[in-house]
Amino acid sequence: MPAPPDTNRGNAVNMPMHHSLCRFARAGPQAGQHPNHRLILVDPTFMSVRNESPAPALECRGLSKAYGPNRVVLAGLDFTLARGEFVAVMGDSGVGKSTLLNLIAGLDKADSGDVLIDGEPVCQLDDDAATRLRRQKLGFVFQAFHVLPHLTLAQNVALPLLLNNLPPGHALEMLAAVGLAGRGDDFPRQLSGGELQRVAIARALVHRPRLILADEPTGNLDPDTAHDVLMLLRAQARATRAATMMVTHSEAAAAVADRVLILSAGHLHPGTLSSRRSVHSVDKPHA
Ligand SMILES: Nc1ncnc2c1ncn2[C@@H]1O[C@H](COP(=O)(O)OP(=O)(O)O)[C@@H](O)[C@H]1O
Ligand SMILES: [Mg+2]
Repeated sequence: MPAPPDTNRGNAVNMPMHHSLCRFARAGPQAGQHPNHRLILVDPTFMSVRNESPAPALECRGLSKAYGPNRVVLAGLDFTLARGEFVAVMGDSGVGKSTLLNLIAGLDKADSGDVLIDGEPVCQLDDDAATRLRRQKLGFVFQAFHVLPHLTLAQNVALPLLLNNLPPGHALEMLAAVGLAGRGDDFPRQLSGGELQRVAIARALVHRPRLILADEPTGNLDPDTAHDVLMLLRAQARATRAATMMVTHSEAAAAVADRVLILSAGHLHPGTLSSRRSVHSVDKPHA
């Protein structure tokens, strides 16, 4: 079926998509639901249309950024994130963690260096091609959720699909996967902070991006909710084989990562946690 033209995007966010999504929203709980986290892993075959490439999910080469001559934030940073890897980035406030994610996401521009997403050097692409690449291959989770208040949950989650000219139907599947089955017609104002971040995670993952960028995703949540949301992010990233780069100041959050890096003096260094917890238990439902 041919992809809908760009001019249909606005309509698709409104009623036609909305009605078709409602059918899925009311389908209720599905097999495979996680007993503790109300979590349904996404069917790995769903939307598995992309080609698998051997390239790292992300590579930064000599990435540099300064705000004025006396404020060097990133000083030629080199870094590789393997496919499916979950990395936590820590560092003092103001050291440049958000700047790093923003450069990778194209929300800010590097002074020099390059970012390769799934092997493609973003800085060598023209603006349109770079935007298209990021739209397809990136998902972003923000500390403050940034769920759009005037759209339903289904419409919020469907946005990346519409921007990529993909059918919006999987939005409800993804909402169910983050424990919000049947909530597709609700509006963000009806949700708690933890639920809003689940919606944001569903939106970040729905188009099966290669790379998830998460900037303090649990920073606005209480510890128990933060733990649930973190487990959800990690499980869903694994289910969709997305790599994740998560900025956090929380050792508890960083402990779920495969690898911890510390940003300091413009470079990333391997880090260790003072209280590394066992994280294997979260992979399996408790008895
Ligand atoms: N647009 C900007 N203009 C000038 N300075 C900025 C801008 N954005 C960030 N900075 C500065 O860059 C540094 C790193 O900021 P940021 O990446 O937000 O740090 P972090 O996320 O690690 O707390 C800080 O000193 C901040 O004040
Ligand atoms: Mg920050």
